[in-house]
Amino acid sequence: MPEQLKRLFPLFAIFIIIFLIIRHLLIPDTFGLYGHYRGDALKDNANIELVYASKEACIECHSDIREMLEMDEHSDISCLSCHGPGLEHVENPETANIEKPGSREFCGRCHAINPARSTNMIIQVDIKEHHAEKKDCIDCHNPHQVWEIKE
Ligand code: HEC
Ligand code: HEC
Ligand code: HEC
Ligand code: HEC
Repeated sequence: MPEQLKRLFPLFAIFIIIFLIIRHLLIPDTFGLYGHYRGDALKDNANIELVYASKEACIECHSDIREMLEMDEHSDISCLSCHGPGLEHVENPETANIEKPGSREFCGRCHAINPARSTNMIIQVDIKEHHAEKKDCIDCHNPHQVWEIKE
């Protein structure tokens, strides 16, 4: 074996040792405990504070609203998509407030004209022009029964 190759071996050995030390320092302790990921990631995720309630939880107390919604175009939309995450309210309905958005901007999230959206799916209106004599959409539309126009 040529002399210059022999001299390279210790150099390689040093590189490999440095690599193993760095690898050992960088890989989290619980990596590989359950699979090819950090085991503690499960614990971290389980500890994230919950904020979302479920539609079913809302209906347990507000069954009258559910009946209303069953007859309406908005019945497939979750309560949460309009009223916010709601878990705080579910746990503490007397004190914890809940969103009740009915502004042009809010309803426009789904109904504003948007060429990227299919008009077969959602009817679109020009939210700046459509009955602009009133400020908010819910000044006229009942959000739970949208075809009921308020006087
Ligand atoms: C444990 C029973 C309970 C649950 C569960 C519950 N609510 Fe309520 N909610 C109440 C009570 C009580 C009030 C206050 C009295 C009222 O207006 O009926 C209220 C009021 C409201 C109001 C009116 C607030 C206001 O300022 O006028 C909205 C909107 C509402 N709830 C939506 C929801 C939604 C959405 C959910 C599901 C995320 C939900 N509620 C779950 C009991 C509940
Ligand atoms: C399309 C949006 C939308 C959806 C979906 C929706 N809400 Fe509402 N809700 C509103 C708005 C906006 C108001 C405020 C109405 C007002 O002030 O005139 C409201 C008011 C309420 C109120 C207060 C009492 C009342 O009748 O005004 C309750 C309770 C309520 N919603 C519960 C629910 C529950 C439970 C669901 C799901 C089954 C739900 N809502 C689904 C938009 C929505
Ligand atoms: C999360 C999306 C979403 C939000 C937010 C939303 N809508 Fe809707 N809306 C729908 C869908 C889906 C339908 C049923 C499909 C359709 O007919 O366009 C509908 C139907 C309607 C209709 C009946 C249209 C028809 O000819 O059948 C009216 C009116 C309406 N919404 C008004 C409102 C108002 C007012 C608000 C605000 C309080 C609102 N919507 C918020 C998704 C939404
Ligand atoms: C002054 C009352 C009034 C206000 C405010 C109002 N609407 Fe309407 N909306 C109506 C009436 C009445 C109709 C029936 C058809 C028409 O006159 O355009 C209607 C129809 C609709 C339709 C069905 C359109 C179709 O082509 O079938 C949608 C969707 C709608 N409104 C959504 C909204 C949204 C979103 C807002 C807020 C940006 C809003 N409306 C504000 C009174 C109102």
